[in-house]
Amino acid sequence: MKYLICNLKSNQTLKEATEYKEKIIKIDTEGINFVLCPTFTYLSLYQSENIKIGAQNVSEYDNGAYTGEVNAKQLKSCGINYVIVGHSERRKIFKENADAIKNKIKQAVKNGLKVIYCIGESEEQYLRQKTYVTIEKQITEIFGCLTNDCIKNIIIAYEPIWAIGTGKIPQNNEIEEITSFIKKVLSTHYHANMPVIYGGSIDDSNIKKLNKISNVDGFLVGGASLNIEKLKIIIEVTK
Ligand code: PGA
Repeated sequence: MKYLICNLKSNQTLKEATEYKEKIIKIDTEGINFVLCPTFTYLSLYQSENIKIGAQNVSEYDNGAYTGEVNAKQLKSCGINYVIVGHSERRKIFKENADAIKNKIKQAVKNGLKVIYCIGESEEQYLRQKTYVTIEKQITEIFGCLTNDCIKNIIIAYEPIWAIGTGKIPQNNEIEEITSFIKKVLSTHYHANMPVIYGGSIDDSNIKKLNKISNVDGFLVGGASLNIEKLKIIIEVTK
């Protein structure tokens, strides 16, 4: 079953989020692993709904004096089962480094959350043909410090930074080759066989083409998931 993970990012007012929820809970998502990741403030809107929910971030710390942070135990206690870690926006804008990412993953898994770990190269790295080196580093610098049990709870999201929110997408054969490479790194170094999904500028007009890539285990959708009509098409095609 393919994953379809929707990252709503920092969008929607309470009114908009409530209207969105009323529509999204009516969509039939059977046949895919559908996970919706709203803003923290709206996570509880979904508490009694039959829909899998993820958070967009998690504290690298336990309970305690960490003003402004939301920790993994709190997320789990609200019925949340997934969390996105290592998103390029968090790495770049919020300066999250490998240490913070490792701690977040450890906290998440310790508290029973599944992690969607985002990796991907910048446009400069892509143009200088540094994609593979960059990706391998993003995997090994994190996974080398995790136990096998921890690694089993991770889904990899390959998201080229230059494709996020830009309308630019790699060719299918490029995504296929990079996905194979990621799977090879995971199996060779860690004997791991986790899902690898693609993200970056997915919408209703390109999902059919992307869904033809045979080794991709699903998709991470940002901007297009805010539009219910576009999302319905993406869901139907992914099924
Ligand atoms: P996008 O975002 O679909 O708007 O490009 C993807 C993401 O950031 O996860």
